[in-house]
Amino acid sequence: MSNPTVPDPHTSAKVAATVERRWAFLAVLLIASTIAVVIFTGLHWSAMPPSRVETIDPTTLNVSGEFIESNLGSAVEPDGSVTLRIVAQQYSFTPQCLLVPAGVPITFRATSADVVHGLLVTHTNINSMVEPGYISTFRTTFAQTGDHLMPCHEYCGTGHQGMWAHVKVIDKNAFMQMAATSRRISCVK
Ligand code: CUA
Repeated sequence: MSNPTVPDPHTSAKVAATVERRWAFLAVLLIASTIAVVIFTGLHWSAMPPSRVETIDPTTLNVSGEFIESNLGSAVEPDGSVTLRIVAQQYSFTPQCLLVPAGVPITFRATSADVVHGLLVTHTNINSMVEPGYISTFRTTFAQTGDHLMPCHEYCGTGHQGMWAHVKVIDKNAFMQMAATSRRISCVK
């Protein structure tokens, strides 16, 4: 009477229940790990936000403060690292030619005098928005000497496609020699 190819319905029910439990366990595990990641990043990043939001008055950049023209370019810090200050405006970067040493930690500090710009350095992962009212800060190290272009990558008006600067990465010793005689360095001629 009973067909041997049809499994016993009680066994089927048991198998189904086991599979269901296994999937339920996986689903709960997934939800629990997602919540754990949310809690961890929430607590962790609240103690150390992903980027410091530094504000600045864009209307007085050229009058006083960190971004006055005589303070732009590369500066050697007491710890041996280099800080590079840049102002973006329609349609140029100041300085037009950035001079930095290879193999030295460099902190970029950039801001805009007018509208939203962007900057990227070709053949590197340097890429940032430059917004009026905010200071974009990031750290990087150039491994090798060489020349790069730094175009604006955010449409900022009719002259956008002509807005770019040069980045010259030179030997560390040559750079430090130049730094010994001038407070701020760039390769603007
Ligand atoms: Cu500045 Cu596009």
